[in-house]
Amino acid sequence: MSVIAGIQQNRDRLVALRRDIHAHPETAFQEWRTSDLVAEVLAAAGIEVHRGLAGTGVVGMLRAGGSERAVGLRADMDALPLQEQNPFPHRSRFDGRMHGCGHDGHTAMLLGAAEYLAATRRFDGTVYFIFQPAEEGEGGARVMIEQGLFQRFPMQAVFGMHNWPGLAAGQFAVMAGPMMASADQFEIAVRGRGAHAAMPHQGADPVVAGSALVQALQTIPSRTLDPLDAAVVSVTQFHAGDAYNVIPERAVLGGTVRAFRPEVRDAAEAAMERICNGIAAGFGVEADLDYRRGYPPTVNSAAEAELCRAVAADLVGEANVRADLRPSMGAEDFSFMLQARPGCYVWLGNGLGEGGCMLHSPHYDFNDDILPIGASYWARLAERLLPTPSGS
Ligand code: NI
Repeated sequence: MSVIAGIQQNRDRLVALRRDIHAHPETAFQEWRTSDLVAEVLAAAGIEVHRGLAGTGVVGMLRAGGSERAVGLRADMDALPLQEQNPFPHRSRFDGRMHGCGHDGHTAMLLGAAEYLAATRRFDGTVYFIFQPAEEGEGGARVMIEQGLFQRFPMQAVFGMHNWPGLAAGQFAVMAGPMMASADQFEIAVRGRGAHAAMPHQGADPVVAGSALVQALQTIPSRTLDPLDAAVVSVTQFHAGDAYNVIPERAVLGGTVRAFRPEVRDAAEAAMERICNGIAAGFGVEADLDYRRGYPPTVNSAAEAELCRAVAADLVGEANVRADLRPSMGAEDFSFMLQARPGCYVWLGNGLGEGGCMLHSPHYDFNDDILPIGASYWARLAERLLPTPSGS
């Protein structure tokens, strides 16, 4: 693998940086120490540092040459509310917080690329290094955009990367179109009329109506949506009742909806509303749907995906770049940035994930071997996106 020599020489420092972040995980919007560390490393490299977007967000700005072109490279900094089960010395020093998704590695890789690009400056234009808070469920990317990310730092395209257990270490996966799904939440409050369990005819049972709802919601993927569109409707919560002999007043259902296309998302929500109303009328109860839109699907634009594929292939060889993987039903808030700008999100193999070492596992750890590969990818991508006039 032809990682950049200057980055490879810096490997031990990148590993130390990554393990330091791993040992000091911070959850959504609380990434103050990490944010300080990122700002220090960028400033020491001579990169202009802008702080405060979404609280802990950091944007580094590096300019070379005279071109007006600008691109954004993004890493996430937050950890999970998860108890780490690893025994190694760089395990989390804090109960209930853990870098279980490798954002420690993402932050270190982008810092490695920033240092290299600042030292070499073989590009023409502006590179923005975007370090965002709160990728895990809280939508830090959306908050940075709402607070003016793309107005304050105008850029033509934006790029993201996530480590991927299950994919061999150092391989890349790049697909045009959807890479990850949308993730919406719903809650349905079913209000009936309580009664003695021996006299159900005197009440309106929200448990039976709720059970019918659970079944009927499964017909959204199977009967409402085009079979060629992938979607998931999962009811993950059903809360009702306190006694063996009382029909409760109320049942509450909750769950998640996943899809790859906005039209599918709209259709699923509309069908859910229709089914709630129909079941409620049929069972003589009320069913109030609260449908909350979360992350949109993560969709790569075709030209940028092809460019990223070519950069990855130059780095690790054609055979190590996969364009044939299926997208994931997981979700990612980089999707908000891809709604605002063309761009591409890639997976970098973290290794085969033996021993349950998958994302969000309490045994997970980022694979330090891929730090120089990811950092080299970022650096080569910036150089390719912002070529110097001589092409050197
Ligand atoms: Ni993640």
